[in-house]
Amino acid sequence: MCGIVGYVGSKQAYPILMKGLYRLEYRGYDSAGIALVDGDLKLYKTKGKVSDLEHFVHDKDVTGTIGIAHTRWATHGEPNNINAHPHYSQTHNLALIHNGIIENYGPIKEELQKRGYKFISDTDTEVIIHLIEDIKVNEKVTLDEAVRIALNQIIGAYAIVVISKEDPDMLVAARKGSPLVVGIGKNEFFIASDASPIVEYTQDVVYLNDEEIVTVRRGHKIKIKTITNKDKTPYIQKLELNLSALEKGGFEHFMLKEIFEQSRSIQDSMRGRLNAKEGTVKLGGILDYEQKMANAKRIIIVACGTSWHAGLVGEYLFEDLARIPVEVEYASEFRYRNPVINEDDIVIAISQSGETADTLAAIEMAKMKGATIIGICNVVGSSIPRATHAGSYTHAGPEIGVASTKAFTAQVTILTLMALRIAQMKGTIEKSRFHRLLNELEAIPEKVKETLAVDKQVKELARIFTYTRNFLYLGRGYNFPVALEGALKLKEISYIHAEGYPAAEMKHGPIALIDREMPVVVIATNKGTYDKVLSNIQEVKARKGKIIAIVTKGDKDVKKLADYIIEVPETEEMLVPLLATIPLQLLSYHIAVMRDCNVDQPRNLAKSVTVE
Ligand code: F6R
Repeated sequence: MCGIVGYVGSKQAYPILMKGLYRLEYRGYDSAGIALVDGDLKLYKTKGKVSDLEHFVHDKDVTGTIGIAHTRWATHGEPNNINAHPHYSQTHNLALIHNGIIENYGPIKEELQKRGYKFISDTDTEVIIHLIEDIKVNEKVTLDEAVRIALNQIIGAYAIVVISKEDPDMLVAARKGSPLVVGIGKNEFFIASDASPIVEYTQDVVYLNDEEIVTVRRGHKIKIKTITNKDKTPYIQKLELNLSALEKGGFEHFMLKEIFEQSRSIQDSMRGRLNAKEGTVKLGGILDYEQKMANAKRIIIVACGTSWHAGLVGEYLFEDLARIPVEVEYASEFRYRNPVINEDDIVIAISQSGETADTLAAIEMAKMKGATIIGICNVVGSSIPRATHAGSYTHAGPEIGVASTKAFTAQVTILTLMALRIAQMKGTIEKSRFHRLLNELEAIPEKVKETLAVDKQVKELARIFTYTRNFLYLGRGYNFPVALEGALKLKEISYIHAEGYPAAEMKHGPIALIDREMPVVVIATNKGTYDKVLSNIQEVKARKGKIIAIVTKGDKDVKKLADYIIEVPETEEMLVPLLATIPLQLLSYHIAVMRDCNVDQPRNLAKSVTVE
């Protein structure tokens, strides 16, 4: 939530900052702003998207080789010109951008107001810059020291960058709970919420840790210290990020590109880990912990949103294959309960961004209670992989569309590999079944390609249902999380109300909703419960509901009943989510496009939810 960019060097800052903002716009897009120093501290900001900011500044002076920029996802104060970042200090000598939430902004604001500070915005952010200036002036300290002292008084989450008119060679930044990465170029530095604004200029980056403050000064080396004033040696890493992954590559939207990437991304998730010929599954990141996983009496999976749906597939997989009881928890609920956690529990935290605040907090809580935490994350170097004991990256590549697509199938792939490996170690799976599943998993990327061929047909279907107001999604077993995920995708990008249910639950309530206006998407690929799903379809038909069925190629019986059929290739039941999710992603996508919705940046959403 909120994207941050900073630059100091010898080049003009404006184009670098604007390009960076476009790259980070997935993090929030309700207002944007920029501050540059070139003699004066110039600050421009506006409600709307980064393109609105660009339009707003087109006739303004944007010269300067140092600057900061921000794209906002509002928490405190509605999106408007005043609440947009950067925020000036009282004297207009300093300006600041912030991502996060300051919990104790109320008492700090009161105190500063008593001392004569005037607040013009409704944000929690404004207190930080006034507090820094107050400390700098009254205690007569340098800017970085004033930032350090101020942060000791602040409770909450932040990634901040401060720029000063009086010291036009330096930026000061800090983080706690919100991500920040510093790029080190030749006589230049970049600061950003993630590496995407940096990658085309330098491969050398430092990921800041919580409660660290970084000072970057023209002609000097990067300097990091903690808020308790301990010097830290910067750990410079090489970026593994491909610039083309950040571009649309000929697709109309990132979401469509990412849906179509899934054959490749699933392959990348398995690369070097699965060898069907030799009958091995090897996840390097968890090697030291796999015995502990095999010995676990219980696995708790914590996640949010789509990652939580992947976790539900994980529950079926681990119970089915490795015979370990699994609980799947919303991280936001789990962290505020008083859950029973034992030292031999394994907690698996799933997150695309690796920054989700609730998931991070759930991890910290479980860690304090002695559990072993295994991460499944996509963004390399993000906070969650650093907070876990061990884990596996999904290697799906950057996911820029706000609605998660390829991250989901990559998470399910990793969970399948983990469950298979643990089952193999525990001896809870027959050799022949193990080998069959490995072979089938290896074949999935090809089958994903085959599945994607339904795109045209799904587009036609989308035309029929473009203006429908409600949708129901039904699935049983492994297809129940698929139903939930299908419904979530539709509501978040097309704003159509949609519900996902286990098919058999329909008769306990949702059946009341069914009439000729109600399309019901049924994922009907199950072998084990095929007849039961057929009965559920009959129940919908008897009430004149319209059935859109996802079936296995060659299906006969569902075909006779359904109004519309989408076929996916045959595979093992537990691998169906990797295929059946795809037509549902495409259906949401095409409906949203036909409704003229902003597919990649749906209203009110942001990709990386770094606030509670
Ligand atoms: C849905 C979506 C969200 C995320 C959720 C968790 O399309 O993107 O529901 O899945 O916010 O995010 P991560 O996986 O980054 O922890």
